[in-house]
Amino acid sequence: MKDVMILTGAGQIGMAIARRMGYGMKIVVGDKKIENAQTISKIMNEAGFDAVPVEMDLSSRDSIMNMIAEAKKYGEISMLVNAAGVSPSQAPIEAILKVDLYGTAVLLEEVGKIIKKGGAGVTISSQSGWRMPALTAEEDELLAATPTEELLNLPLLQLENIRDTLHAYQMAKRCNEKRVMAEAVKWGRRGARINDIAPGIIVTPLAIDEFNGPRGDFYKNMFANCPAGRPGTADEVANVAELLMSDKGAFITGSTFLIDGGATASYFYGPLAPKK
Ligand SMILES: NC(=O)c1ccc[n+]([C@@H]2O[C@H](COP(=O)([O-])OP(=O)(O)OC[C@H]3O[C@@H](n4cnc5c(N)ncnc54)[C@H](O)[C@@H]3O)[C@@H](O)[C@H]2O)c1
Repeated sequence: MKDVMILTGAGQIGMAIARRMGYGMKIVVGDKKIENAQTISKIMNEAGFDAVPVEMDLSSRDSIMNMIAEAKKYGEISMLVNAAGVSPSQAPIEAILKVDLYGTAVLLEEVGKIIKKGGAGVTISSQSGWRMPALTAEEDELLAATPTEELLNLPLLQLENIRDTLHAYQMAKRCNEKRVMAEAVKWGRRGARINDIAPGIIVTPLAIDEFNGPRGDFYKNMFANCPAGRPGTADEVANVAELLMSDKGAFITGSTFLIDGGATASYFYGPLAPKK
């Protein structure tokens, strides 16, 4: 038996983190598109890792439970990397809320019930959530603590209160940050930690869909005018994940780390600020 890492989302960010942290472990690679899970597993197995692809849909509790049951066959689950998600140009409002908001909440909850002592997890939110104005303290608490099966019934998540897919994505990613805070308390009772990484523009198929989507010029302008002057890479996200998931991050839990080349700073106090 080996320690097991669950990786949801067989994309570039997920693979970069799994390669950084998953050596010597069994890596269960879950993705809605089994071919993505198979491709990433093959690349990793040919590089000395021990990965197995599993079809799973983050928007379904049953599917999440099946993946966890599959993972437990190989040993104790000591790491979680949640890098599954859909972007504002890829899916309608309902799907964004079901996958990015509800699915992430269920996954953190269910893995938090069985994570091994000393275990660690990361979930991937987005800088996008940081550009949305602050919610009220009551709204934040609702996103953090509402039971998972009631989350999508919250008034602030109803279609009449969500402007467009970008707004849905921002709400989902804000919810991820708040869920991580609330879950960190529960994970802590098991001696485990959970954190969140909020990336800026990282070149992956998802980001390329955004470059070619209706907000393409907005995104290209964003990385050209952020302090770093370029988009980021999945390996740079893995640098942060390594800190958070290794012993070096032993005192870090319930946190969200922004890694965006300074785009958020520029949005508030620099050339990316919206015209008043
Ligand atoms: N790339 C960026 O610029 C960027 C920026 C901020 C946040 N993010 C976030 O990072 C995460 C990973 O994105 P990425 O850029 O690596 O994208 P990616 O497209 O490379 O990978 C995402 C994977 O998630 C899978 N997926 C989609 N819906 C799913 C579902 N319901 N169940 C299971 N799997 C599903 C896709 O099939 C895909 O393989 C996402 O949550 C995304 O919102 C990405």
